Amino acid sequence: MEAVRCFVTMCVATVVVALACSGGVAVDAAAAAAAAQELRRGFTAAHDRSSSQFEAVLSDPSGVFALGFLRVNSTMLDLAVLHLPSSFPLWRAIPDRPAQWGAPASLSFDGDLLLTDPASNKVTWSAAAAGDRVVLLNTSNLQIQTAASASSVVWQSFDTPSDTIVQGQNLTSAAALRTSDRRFAMRMGTNYFGLYIDPPLSSSSGVAAAMYWKHTALQAKAEIVAGGGATYARVEPDGYLAMYQKEGPPADVLSFDTFNHGVRSLRRMTLETDGNLRAYYYDNPQSRWVLDFTAITDPCSLPTTCGAYAVCVPPTGRCACLANATDGSGCAAAVAAAGGLCGRTGGEVGGLYWEVRRNRVEPANKELLPFENSPSAADCEARCARNCSCWGSVYSNGTGYCYFMDYPAQMMVEADERKVGYFKVRSLENPASGGGGGKAAGVKVALLVVGVTVVVVAAAFGAYRVWKRRCRTAAGDVRGQVGVDDERLSPGPYKNLGSFSSVELSSSFRR
Ligand SMILES: *[C@@H]1O[C@H](CO)[C@@H](O)[C@H](O)[C@H]1NC(C)=O
Ligand SMILES: *[C@@H]1O[C@H](CO)[C@@H](O)[C@H](O)[C@H]1NC(C)=O
Ligand SMILES: *[C@@H]1O[C@H](CO)[C@@H](O)[C@H](O)[C@H]1NC(C)=O
Ligand SMILES: *[C@@H]1O[C@H](CO)[C@@H](O)[C@H](O)[C@H]1NC(C)=O
Ligand SMILES: *[C@@H]1O[C@H](CO)[C@@H](O)[C@H](O)[C@H]1NC(C)=O
Ligand SMILES: *[C@@H]1O[C@H](CO)[C@@H](O)[C@H](O)[C@H]1NC(C)=O
Repeated sequence: MEAVRCFVTMCVATVVVALACSGGVAVDAAAAAAAAQELRRGFTAAHDRSSSQFEAVLSDPSGVFALGFLRVNSTMLDLAVLHLPSSFPLWRAIPDRPAQWGAPASLSFDGDLLLTDPASNKVTWSAAAAGDRVVLLNTSNLQIQTAASASSVVWQSFDTPSDTIVQGQNLTSAAALRTSDRRFAMRMGTNYFGLYIDPPLSSSSGVAAAMYWKHTALQAKAEIVAGGGATYARVEPDGYLAMYQKEGPPADVLSFDTFNHGVRSLRRMTLETDGNLRAYYYDNPQSRWVLDFTAITDPCSLPTTCGAYAVCVPPTGRCACLANATDGSGCAAAVAAAGGLCGRTGGEVGGLYWEVRRNRVEPANKELLPFENSPSAADCEARCARNCSCWGSVYSNGTGYCYFMDYPAQMMVEADERKVGYFKVRSLENPASGGGGGKAAGVKVALLVVGVTVVVVAAAFGAYRVWKRRCRTAAGDVRGQVGVDDERLSPGPYKNLGSFSSVELSSSFRR
């Protein structure tokens, strides 16, 4: 008995040590380095379900990188190129319907590289290419080449990044970095790149991608010419992200902490699951990735700090709900459903969404939002209310700007009393989001009651606000003359999104 307990304890300890030493992914580096260095037509490798975390199939000449089966999220299987010393996946296939680690899977090459589920004989992932061999370069680039010459590359993993680019890898507008849950993306624009909250795949309509960070090429440096080809970005060995339109001097440089410090080590830039973009270099003696750049340092400007329908309080990043979920589970969930935001009655509140009004809030990304000049908060609100693709508006009583959001409220931050917000809330329990049969009917009745209550409360709140505003007018007039408007002082051009050249001037937003 005692012996059994001791044995179990030892086993647990061994497993814990193994996991701790490998940083989560246990990789047999020797086995990985012994893997093939080239796959030819007819190659097939079956996934060994008893293996622990990573099973190498193909290795690069330096033995630093390997392609193989990777266990992700504890139960799923993916195809990945790993940086072996750190077990960090630099590239992942990320199939739409990933296979289970415990299920059989095989990787084969018949001109195209295929990840297959032999049980159902279904192809889980394919490179959609036709070549003669597969090689992994010492840059971590996985290539399918034709036999004619090494330079005839028909497919390369560098063109389909997952969440990471390594140094020397071009990020073009044809590709994007995406977090593995596909919530966030980094995309190239004409003369900028941006970070976006992508709408859920399930919502085919009604929600646009929300840009929450943008880096624009400095106009002074920019040699970007319209029609001169698409821009692309690349992490350079000297410690910066460069934006190019053609090879040669970069049009723009976003420098990292070790810029020009002579650090010669593998670098990568990763869009991480918290929505932040970070750059690292690999410190070989210490065997760890060292953080070298963070795009967003203000917690309230990061979409994951508070989530949808929440208000963030700077500088701590404390969160409060803008609108509560009906089931008491926290803030209302951002749910899109077919039918837009107009309802059957064309613009009125018809049970498709609720309206929430909040003062003292503004979008952290307001410089990136479209806006119009508006005479009043009521006018601003009305413009959003009647627009089927508008999810919310914020009126700034200081500047007369009316900002519009074409996605459910995100990254709202606490602001001064001159900011007036109006938001459309569509929650999980909303009848418009579906539900089945008789149960849905019951839910509808319940929601109708809730909805009516909300409308009554909102009406009462509106009346209260009108009353309160009247009472405040005298005091407000005095404050208005004395107070200096921060927005009037802030540089105007970047707000004038109607003009393209002024957008270029916005340069490095928040940096
Ligand atoms: C990678 O391979 C190239 C030739 O293909 C070689 O010039 C270079 O030195 C190699 N780099 C490393 C780090 O092994
Ligand atoms: C990056 O783009 C440049 C210019 O198009 C090209 O010359 C270079 O080969 C590309 N690098 C890779 C690794 O694809
Ligand atoms: C990972 O697993 C968790 C819990 O099992 C699940 O909620 C999450 O969606 C999974 N993530 C991915 C990317 O599959
Ligand atoms: C949300 O719920 C919390 C706790 O139930 C409450 O304190 C808060 O006032 C509610 N917020 C809104 C906007 O209704
Ligand atoms: C409605 O809102 C969307 C997104 O904010 C905007 O692009 C569009 O121009 C607006 N339509 C009208 C008629 O104002
Ligand atoms: C906007 O400002 C004006 C003048 O400063 C004031 O009279 C008015 O009440 C304010 N409106 C709101 C909604 O705060």
